[in-house]
Amino acid sequence: MSEEADTESPPTGPEIYAEYEELRANRPVSRDEGEPWRVARYEDVRHVLKAHTDFSSEVSQRMQQDETSTTTMLFTDPPVHDRLRALVSSAFTPRQIDAQADQIEARCEALMKKFAASEDGDLITAFAAPLPVGVIATMLGVEDGDFVEFKRWSDTIFTDIGEILLGTPSPAAIAAGGEMSAYFLERIASIRETPRKHLLSDLVYVDTEEGRLTDGELLMFCFLLLIAGNETTTSLIVGCVRMFDERPELFDRLKSSPDLIPDFIEETLRFHSPFKATLRKASRDLEIAGQPISKGDLILPLIASANRDETVFDRAGEFIPDRKPNAHLAFGLGIHSCLGASLARMEGRIAVASMLRHLDGISLCDPHMPELDGFGAPASVKVELRPAA
Ligand code: HEM
Repeated sequence: MSEEADTESPPTGPEIYAEYEELRANRPVSRDEGEPWRVARYEDVRHVLKAHTDFSSEVSQRMQQDETSTTTMLFTDPPVHDRLRALVSSAFTPRQIDAQADQIEARCEALMKKFAASEDGDLITAFAAPLPVGVIATMLGVEDGDFVEFKRWSDTIFTDIGEILLGTPSPAAIAAGGEMSAYFLERIASIRETPRKHLLSDLVYVDTEEGRLTDGELLMFCFLLLIAGNETTTSLIVGCVRMFDERPELFDRLKSSPDLIPDFIEETLRFHSPFKATLRKASRDLEIAGQPISKGDLILPLIASANRDETVFDRAGEFIPDRKPNAHLAFGLGIHSCLGASLARMEGRIAVASMLRHLDGISLCDPHMPELDGFGAPASVKVELRPAA
């Protein structure tokens, strides 16, 4: 994610892709004064993501300095990262993810039924945001009565995410973080007495040769799910709706061939990558594509640019719903590759299937809606709906 990765990032239109194209062609590794190096080509982005010994994820000064903040897996290097990832992965298996299909289906149906009846409205507040927040709340065992508070903490924290990770968080974000920590510490204590049936409870009881997760590490994981899993999934749903707006025939095609949905989701991840860039720090003096980089320099691997690299993807600037192969980097690569990728894919597929069932079409009120730089989703996307006849 970029240093400006908060909802106040300047919104960028489709021209962001023209800029990426120019970077790939003429300045594959470049930077503006005082900014991180931008890496634009697929092979270089791939290399930066994979070579974790050269490109450190310890980019959050605040995380390193602030003794009260727990280490977030996303911003750690081995061996700390290996331990956290191994522990968390054992509670994040395909079986555990598959087991969530029914509750995601039910949540989606309830939201879409209500939304479809409204004929127009806000895609974000009515569907694309509550779906992933609800899924994560269920994973963390947030009880129904606490959901509104949980959503409020989540919104407040995400609004300030760039500052939380890399700068000075706002008083509102600090307060929301404090309330959320207190809430989850209480839940964790209660789970330690009586196990429950959800991911947080599984994590509390994960017992491997690596040992058990501490309260601080469990809390870190609750925050990480909010940061990594919410707005990215919202943004994936927005990407799908962008395509239905731009190419209404796709909606009809998927309606008659729902087996195309998984490929459509993959192409949306490539074409409208929700996590446009991430951040690394050079661990030593090195070169990327011949460009000397000094130890300590920050580097932005532009995932969204890599995913449109014409040397890798045939007709890269075209949305091809059944594209194969589709080796996009939307979920990253290497040791930090997205832990929630199967969950996000499942949510995307279920969300699209639900739209196809309840609607005959969906369009954006503002077809020139900007894309956000960094990662995250817009706060509001007004749409017109054509409920299924
Ligand atoms: C379409 C939705 C999503 C996209 C595009 C996405 C993308 C990514 C990317 C690119 C990374 C790697 C970042 C880096 O290397 O610096 C990442 C990491 C991660 N994601 Fe996702 N993500 C999505 C949804 C989710 C969901 C739903 C969850 C969990 C509920 C999740 C959990 C994580 C975690 C825990 C990590 C950190 C892994 C590590 O550091 O080892 N993500 N995600």
